[in-house]
Amino acid sequence: MSYVSESFWHDAVNKATTDLFTFGYKNIIKPNFVFNVPPDEAHDRMITFCKVAKRVPPLMWACREMLNYTDPVLETEVMGVEFANPLGLSAGLDKNCEMPVLLDNAGFGFETVGSTTSRPCAGNPKPWFHRLPEYDSMMVHVGLANIGSDKVIDRAEQAWTNARDMQVSVSIARTNDDKVGDLDEGIEDYCMSMRRAAGRTAMVEVNVSCPNTTAGEPFTQTPENLDRLFAALDGIDRPQPTLVKLPLNKPWGELHELLDVLAEHNVQGVSLANLQKDRTGLDIPREWEGGLSGGPCTRASEALIAQVRRTYGDRFAIAGIGGVFTPEQAYAKIRAGADLVMFISSLMYRGPQQITVLKRGLAQLLKRDGFEHVADAVGVDL
Ligand SMILES: Cc1cc2nc3c(=O)[nH]c(=O)nc-3n(C[C@H](O)[C@H](O)[C@H](O)COP(=O)(O)O)c2cc1C
Repeated sequence: MSYVSESFWHDAVNKATTDLFTFGYKNIIKPNFVFNVPPDEAHDRMITFCKVAKRVPPLMWACREMLNYTDPVLETEVMGVEFANPLGLSAGLDKNCEMPVLLDNAGFGFETVGSTTSRPCAGNPKPWFHRLPEYDSMMVHVGLANIGSDKVIDRAEQAWTNARDMQVSVSIARTNDDKVGDLDEGIEDYCMSMRRAAGRTAMVEVNVSCPNTTAGEPFTQTPENLDRLFAALDGIDRPQPTLVKLPLNKPWGELHELLDVLAEHNVQGVSLANLQKDRTGLDIPREWEGGLSGGPCTRASEALIAQVRRTYGDRFAIAGIGGVFTPEQAYAKIRAGADLVMFISSLMYRGPQQITVLKRGLAQLLKRDGFEHVADAVGVDL
């Protein structure tokens, strides 16, 4: 395998193309094709673009040759899964699994598709999104719209099988519709999606922290509820590792109890964390519903990663999520204890080349500090 970082010309072309994309996205694409329409429409346009682009082989080839930065310092193994790099797309942008071909060619280490639910789900009434550019943030109120986990997991399996380098994970959540029943109904809903996912993706993420559903978050309300859910999920034989997506805003005492429960079950990792619910100090219209992504998550998620790593050592792998816009922010999450780093807002606000910007910058920071492998930097600040 030849790495971009080890070839002078390939590296130079990769850097120049990335700089060109950064300029083009900021000055042409974002103002004229993305931020000039409401965010719900921009999201639909992006998905349509991905669906079309994946059918144009020369475009995928160009994407791979020019944008995909590879470097051995970024390679890592987490929970028994091998990653070309530790950077991935977080759950929610690609709910129905339509982006893997593009992301694989652009050089994502992994993608989390979904969140998907056992029944197809229309989600909340629109608008689903509000932009808050002054905070590099989106207000998100989708409510788990998706075509159902039977279809999404079929697609995810196919995407994982066909991917060149990228790992594919699926996020499963509880259906948000008018058939929602008691706790047992919710448990069976998760179990159905877990049975469908068993053995068919690189990882499964169990999302128990969606802030935008009518049923609320019963599985993070008490340790007993969470225990019942994971006791049922333990009964489903699956070879791939399981991560649990946790809320950002629980007081530490309560989160500690939930983590103690997870430590007793078939759970290998935690994804930290979901959307920011705390609007303190932010100037946001009161009628806008939802949770905040991006900037308002950066510091809080980093602190949470450090707290969990400090308390639980190596018991859980950690996927750090929230407001990663620069290589320094990705590196800070890794040094605080994250094995993997995921993002969404950075892609929307900075553009598709952001994966290359983050990988190249992270590799530089690791080498500057004398690390041979990204795994050596995990948790060094603790
Ligand atoms: C458009 C959008 C949709 C999202 N939908 C989901 C979802 O379905 N499931 C989930 O676990 N998190 C969802 N999230 C939360 C993200 O996965 C992530 O935790 C959060 O946005 C913080 O990362 P960021 O600052 O890089 O955007 C969504 C976020 C955004 C921006």
